[in-house]
Amino acid sequence: MSDKDVLLKVNNLKKYFPIHGGGLIKPKKMHLKAVDGVSFEIKRGETFGLVGESGCGKSTTGRTIIRLYDPTGGEINFDGTDLAQLSEKEMKPFRKKIQMIFQDPYACLNSRMTVTDIIGEGITTHKIASGAERQERIYSLLEHVGLKKEHANRYPHEFSGGQRQRVGIARALAVEPDLVICDEPISALDVSIQAQVVNMMEDLQNEMGLTYLFIAHDLSMVKHISDRIGVMYLGMLMEVCDSEELYRNPLHPYTKALLSAIPIPDPKITRENKRVVLQGDVLSPIDPPVGCRFASRCPMAQKVCREATPVLEELAPGHHVACHVVKGSV
Ligand SMILES: Nc1ncnc2c1ncn2[C@@H]1O[C@H](COP(=O)(O)OP(=O)(O)O)[C@@H](O)[C@H]1O
Ligand SMILES: [Mg+2]
Repeated sequence: MSDKDVLLKVNNLKKYFPIHGGGLIKPKKMHLKAVDGVSFEIKRGETFGLVGESGCGKSTTGRTIIRLYDPTGGEINFDGTDLAQLSEKEMKPFRKKIQMIFQDPYACLNSRMTVTDIIGEGITTHKIASGAERQERIYSLLEHVGLKKEHANRYPHEFSGGQRQRVGIARALAVEPDLVICDEPISALDVSIQAQVVNMMEDLQNEMGLTYLFIAHDLSMVKHISDRIGVMYLGMLMEVCDSEELYRNPLHPYTKALLSAIPIPDPKITRENKRVVLQGDVLSPIDPPVGCRFASRCPMAQKVCREATPVLEELAPGHHVACHVVKGSV
């Protein structure tokens, strides 16, 4: 794959939040390592799914890429520019090229703005269109996300959750971004409309040539839309590979556990492996010890897993895994 095909290449990305620990007399500087050395790339037009349990650092990864947070370390190579090195001013053109869609559209849509103002804000800020042309664009965007012209003068509270997310999507697409970071865009929606919204997002992607970073806490939500998937655990990537491959041949014990938790709709098919119930405590992300972060819950953990942190390595073509035990048996 040539570099030209890659839109985003994240290398060893770190985001630590400083926190105050210890006692009053002996305060100690500690770090919550929300993202701790994450590397992956997304090709143009591709959807990269990022999954893992709540609190594993998915949102922080997305927010650091878009520079809502300053990275503690690492590179964020977007179309040949390392965003990690840019000043706020230098970031401005990239604030158009990279957009974010959030889980809770209600919280991120200004309740005192009409849909026209919400969608039109970016169009004006980035000087994309004005006057009648701007209004036409807004109508066209509404249509693209399955809403109507009549919705343009309404306020967020007048919509259902699914419709509000459609407004949030229209707002993100209004500035013609290249990359859209979708942070659990369907998690808060009724199950019955989740598929509708995902299908619409796929149609929009094809039509507009978009690249997606699609975040979810559950593998079943990203299966359909993702070309490749990264599985995160406590700030680190445990496994990265093609979506199909991940479901057919998961290698990391954590991925296996996540997959075994997804119910299979057809009663005639049963899984080869029984459901894996994870035991043991989740490590704290605050100054975690060396070793594999999953070792405390891993059914396969050995001595080495508590002594050295495994690195993500390509153990089969295109299949990256961070696990001492898997590496030893491949
Ligand atoms: N602004 C912040 N300040 C301090 N800690 C944070 C902040 N944002 C997130 N965290 C912590 O970072 C970790 C990862 O959080 P987050 O990225 O939101 O996870 P996810 O999106 O996977 O649920 C959590 O332990 C969370 O408490
Ligand atoms: Mg999150």
